Amino acid sequence: MSIKNKLALGIESTAHTWSVGIIDFSGNVISLANDMFIPKKGGLHPVLVREQHLNNFMGVINKALSEASISIRDIDLIAFSKSPGLGPILKIGAQVSRLLSQLLKIPIVAVNHCIAHIEIGRLMCEIEDPLTLYVSGGNTIISAYESGRYQIFGETLDIPIGNLIDSFARDIGMPHPGGPKVEKLAKDSSKYLSLPYVVKGMDLSFSGLYTAAKRLLESKDYNKKYDLSDVANSLQETAFAMLTEVTERALAHTGKKEVLLTGGVAANKRLQEMIKYISNEHGARYEVVPLKYSGDNGAMIGWTGVLRYKATGGNIISDTQINPKERMDQISIPWRKGGA
Ligand code: ATP
Ligand code: FE2
Repeated sequence: MSIKNKLALGIESTAHTWSVGIIDFSGNVISLANDMFIPKKGGLHPVLVREQHLNNFMGVINKALSEASISIRDIDLIAFSKSPGLGPILKIGAQVSRLLSQLLKIPIVAVNHCIAHIEIGRLMCEIEDPLTLYVSGGNTIISAYESGRYQIFGETLDIPIGNLIDSFARDIGMPHPGGPKVEKLAKDSSKYLSLPYVVKGMDLSFSGLYTAAKRLLESKDYNKKYDLSDVANSLQETAFAMLTEVTERALAHTGKKEVLLTGGVAANKRLQEMIKYISNEHGARYEVVPLKYSGDNGAMIGWTGVLRYKATGGNIISDTQINPKERMDQISIPWRKGGA
C-alpha cells in the first residue's frame, strides 16, 4: 500500500482489550488488530489480564503493521491510553509506548480513553458537536463539549450499565461479554416486570436494579409466571429508559443539535432505537458509532492522539504518567473551538 500521509499507531490498554490501530493524520484507519481477555469465570482479574497482554502485545502490534503493509519505522506518532482504567494494564500500554517513542525517535501522546470514544464517533459519523451518551462496561456518561472541555451532565452513581448487564449475564451462566447475549434473550420477550427505576437529578443508579433482577430469578414465580427472557427484557427496558430520560434532559438543557451514541453498549439495537426516538423528538441528528469502533479499539486512541498532537504537539516522557481515575471533564480539549 502506498501511504503518503503521516501515520499514528494507537495503543488501547485500559482493561480487557489490547488493541492496536494505525490511522493516518486525516483520519483514515489503515489497520486494526485486537486481542481480548475473556475470563473463564468471574470478572476481570487484573493479574490474568496483565499476563495475557504481556504475552500478546508484540504479536498484535505486528499484526496491525502487517495488515497495513508497513514497518514500524513508517510510524510518525505513538498514542496510548493513559486513563481511566486498571493501573497494571494502563502501565503496559504506557511502557510499550514510551519504549517505541524513544526507540523510533517519534513523538508520543497520552490519551484519555473516554474522550477517545467520543472522538472516534465524531470522526466516523462526521458529526461536529454532539451530546454524547457513552455507555460501556466501565463507564456511563452523558457529556457535551462546553467551555473547552467535555463536560459531564450525568453519570452513574454506582455500577456502569455494561457492568450491570455483564453481571446479570454471569449470574445466569453466560460468559463475558454478556451484552450481546442478554440482548438476544430480551428480543424473545415483550413482557415487562416492574424493576427499580432510579434517576437522581441527572445521575443514575443501577445497583438496586441488579439486585431486583436477581431476586426475580430466585422467586417461586420464575419459570411459572415469567421466564429468563422476560427478566432480560425488563432489565434492558428499565436501564435503557433511565439512560434515555437523562440523555433527553441533557439534550434539552444543552440545546445540542446532534446526538452520538458510543461505547461498547452502543451496539445494542434496543438502546439505539430509544436514543434515536428522543433525538428525532428534539429535531436533533442521531448517530451511532459503527460496531467495529464502538468497543475498545486502538484506532480511537490513535485518532485522539493525532488531534492533540496537531493542536499542541507531543508529550514529554515525564507527562505520560498513567492516571487510573482521571475524569474526562478534567482535561482541556485544545483541538476544538474555544479549547485552550
Ligand atoms: P470502558 O473502558 O470504556 O468502560 P469497556 O472496557 O467496558 O470500556 P467496551 O468494549 O467499550 O469496553 O464495552 C464493553 C461492554 O459493552 C461490555 O459490558 C459488553 O457487555 C457491552 N456490550 C457489547 N455489545 C453489547 C450489546 N449488544 N448490548 C449491550 N451491551 C453490549
Ligand atoms: Fe471503552
